[in-house]
Amino acid sequence: MDCIDVIKGRRSIRKFKDLAIGKEIIEDLLNAAQMAPSAGNLQARDFIIITNKITKQKLVKAALGQSFIEQAPVVIVVVANIERSSRIYRSRGELYATQDATAGIENILLAAHSMGLGTCWIGAFDENAVSELLGIPDKTLPVAIIPVGYPDEQPATPPRIAMERLVHWETW
Ligand SMILES: Cc1cc2nc3c(=O)[nH]c(=O)nc-3n(C[C@H](O)[C@H](O)[C@H](O)COP(=O)(O)O)c2cc1C
Repeated sequence: MDCIDVIKGRRSIRKFKDLAIGKEIIEDLLNAAQMAPSAGNLQARDFIIITNKITKQKLVKAALGQSFIEQAPVVIVVVANIERSSRIYRSRGELYATQDATAGIENILLAAHSMGLGTCWIGAFDENAVSELLGIPDKTLPVAIIPVGYPDEQPATPPRIAMERLVHWETW
């Protein structure tokens, strides 16, 4: 698929088929995430892969009842490793680690779509509950929960704000 087609065609998917995903596919998604840019190439992002049903159910609870998380065969939690970035970048570390993580997240979403898979970037969750559930250490921050599966819906493209309202040539 052409890159622009992948970008335009990706949608948030909240309904998944009851179909498993092979480990190699997950590895391809993680390799795509790792090819994203990162501040100083520190790659201040970690990934937790969840297939366990009970853990998925607990993630649903931590994510304000977003039950489609449980439907997905695989869930990836992307974590900003603030400790790794702060070692070099001090007080900028939190911002850079979050950006490293989000660049990786977007690559996962796009790579998944190019492979016929559906994903959703879930940001509405209780960070403390997710950290406790998954044993995420101090100085790291879970940034997104990404359910991954074969899509069982084809949502229309949600409208975008008109470019003239967002784009400022030369100055704001
Ligand atoms: C930071 C962030 C947080 C989001 N959190 C959620 C969420 O908690 N639940 C959800 O269903 N979608 C969530 N989304 C997905 C957005 O709702 C979605 O991207 C937006 O409506 C545009 O739709 P599209 O992804 O199909 O283009 C989130 C997206 C981002 C970037």
